[in-house]
Amino acid sequence: MTPREIIAERKDAKLLGRGGAAYPAGNKWEQLLGIHETPKHIVCNADEGEPGTFKDRFIMERNPFMLLEGMTIAGLVFGATEGHVYVRGEYRSVQRGLMKAVESARKANVLGDGILGSAFSFDVKLVSGAGAYVCGENSALLNSTQGLAGKPRIKPPHLAEVGLFGLPTLVNNVESFANVPAIVSMGGKAFLDIGHPESGGTKLVCLSGHVARPGVYEVPLGSVTLREAVFDPELGGGMAEGRGKLKFLHLGGQSGPIARTDLLDTVYSYADLRKARLTVGSGAVVVMDETVSVLDYLSAVSRFFIRESCGKCTPCRLGNGAVLKILEDLAVPGVSGRGKLKTLDELCRVMTMGSFCGLGRAATVALVSGWKAFPDEIERYAMHDSPAAGRFAPWRAEAAARPGFPGQDGRRPLRGKGSGGVPATAARTPPKCGPSSEVPEIVRSGTHPPLSSDFYHNVILLYRLAV
Ligand SMILES: Cc1cc2nc3c(=O)[nH]c(=O)nc-3n(C[C@H](O)[C@H](O)[C@H](O)COP(=O)(O)O)c2cc1C
Ligand code: SF4
Repeated sequence: MTPREIIAERKDAKLLGRGGAAYPAGNKWEQLLGIHETPKHIVCNADEGEPGTFKDRFIMERNPFMLLEGMTIAGLVFGATEGHVYVRGEYRSVQRGLMKAVESARKANVLGDGILGSAFSFDVKLVSGAGAYVCGENSALLNSTQGLAGKPRIKPPHLAEVGLFGLPTLVNNVESFANVPAIVSMGGKAFLDIGHPESGGTKLVCLSGHVARPGVYEVPLGSVTLREAVFDPELGGGMAEGRGKLKFLHLGGQSGPIARTDLLDTVYSYADLRKARLTVGSGAVVVMDETVSVLDYLSAVSRFFIRESCGKCTPCRLGNGAVLKILEDLAVPGVSGRGKLKTLDELCRVMTMGSFCGLGRAATVALVSGWKAFPDEIERYAMHDSPAAGRFAPWRAEAAARPGFPGQDGRRPLRGKGSGGVPATAARTPPKCGPSSEVPEIVRSGTHPPLSSDFYHNVILLYRLAV
């Protein structure tokens, strides 16, 4: 098959990139083929830093040759002689296994010089990450591969034009490469038929959390609903023993949205999830039961982004900390959250629209969708002026009664001004929850109003919240 024929099959297959952004894989290959500068680099993104995602590891451990074959076919299409696999630093055993697979492929002459006696040579090198989530972003990944600081680059120029060592580069996820041999051998149309008319093939779904059978499951796209993924005895098998009822799912990784149970009948395909304002993302499906406080969960997500922000741009560097500060303030019994929701909403918009890379832009997706899914819960926290947090997280009420718990005597746990002086122990009935002017439009409508044209206002807001 010629390079063009291979790309035509890939386009027929309608494979969407499995790394999270769901970019059409055939188009990406076609664009790179149209660039005449040589040599070109082939890079596999095996950083897999998204919490709740462990499917690339599964491929590399169980069938590394599928990945190596996919990369070799890419090498053949683009005339590249060298590929890099960037494996996350924590995956030491995976790295060792992959290295062994590379060595045995070389011995079998399916990798290295003159593959199978032909004039085509292609070899694969392993690069280890050092545990930074941002290095999964493809430009940061290339910087890190080159030995530069693992921070994102400005685009354009796109990586297809100026990528690894300044040369045209293809970056694909492990699962995206692993699908290439199947597409080439069965043909793009047959691959498409396995999945959904808009996105062919299967998807590796990572089930974790309070589910009976956590693990990696391969499902044809469009063949199951979210409910089936979690409750089918062949898949998730329902809630884990000793766990309560399902409360919500977190889809696609930490930067993905939260789905309430009324969306359980959504079909697991890119198109159907998109229609429901959800996403496939990396394939993560985190299952949480009713004992989980949404506010606690969102605070944990926020802490993840604070830790992983590379610090290059202001909205993400300061915004994540400012978001957590508000979430923690809301959780303190006896401290009013009045007025904070509007600021939180503004912060989400500043971060989404002003962050330099996908990390900061998606850092509040879980928050916005979780807030939209459980407005009552967040509103009650914001309006309580009482130890109402105990309604959602019983341990918090107990902890609040212990001496020294932040917020007692009306003091806040974090830096900031006075609390309004409501003692934590003052039992009050939480206000009834109904539509409130405190809940910004973003949560009610799910759409972002345009960012304030006064950029400096937004930056000052961030500084004000962060210091
Ligand atoms: C913060 C951040 C982290 C990412 N982490 C990963 C990752 O671990 N693995 C991955 O394949 N893609 C990750 N991506 C997406 C990549 O930038 C890129 O879209 C992907 O590797 C392209 O491959 P694909 O087209 O085959 O999906 C991440 C993106 C962002 C913004
Ligand atoms: S959004 Fe900005 S600070 Fe955050 S990871 Fe990206 S470049 Fe770094």
